[in-house]
Amino acid sequence: MSNVPKTGLGVLGSGKGSNFVAIAEACARNELNAEVRLVISDVPGAGILERAGERNIPNRHLEPGPFRTKLSEEAEAAYVEALRAAGAEWIVLAGFMRILKGGFLRAFPLRVVNIHPSLLPSFPGLRAWQQALDYGVKHTGVTVHLVDQGVDTGPIVSQATVPVLDDDTPERLHTRIQEVEHRLYPEALQALVSGGVRVRGRRSYRN
Ligand code: GAR
Repeated sequence: MSNVPKTGLGVLGSGKGSNFVAIAEACARNELNAEVRLVISDVPGAGILERAGERNIPNRHLEPGPFRTKLSEEAEAAYVEALRAAGAEWIVLAGFMRILKGGFLRAFPLRVVNIHPSLLPSFPGLRAWQQALDYGVKHTGVTVHLVDQGVDTGPIVSQATVPVLDDDTPERLHTRIQEVEHRLYPEALQALVSGGVRVRGRRSYRN
């Protein structure tokens, strides 16, 4: 793997950044043949920016614009410009809590990846672990998928299950889901950046 040039990643996140840390550590261990070139957050002072700073990885807050759940067109253009200038070839959403629209997705076709804390298509949207508890399912899990124009709807790359225990609280269940996320996301990203995943329609195949 060491002779293959590292793939440039751009990471977007709104929260504490534990998935970003798992990805950065997998890169440092050469388990993920990639390098995080830039971390952007829509939230000033977000944990993910601090975690990037501690690792000397370029990071910045970029204004999202006036909407609550998406980036404005101007903001999307600014995000694309910053990511391209940094040499990001794949865009990794790590707890980025805004929907990306056509302009952004056209700039990185089939190269925007998301992780979601449920077995999609169950429980898209916010606080998926709470939705799983409220519904009463016995298993939930984690999904890594490519991003399309919908909310948590793009082609699925990888999934893993997490049992829901009788005495689970939302916090305990989310913690166990995150432990699985930290293993699944770097592994799925390595498959993607190394060209080990083909996508045809909704289905993806490992080479
Ligand atoms: C993760 O659990 C991720 O699956 C979730 O946000 C959390 C971010 O945690 N994403 C979504 O719910 C997207 N719909 P982190 O900041 O510690 O990586």
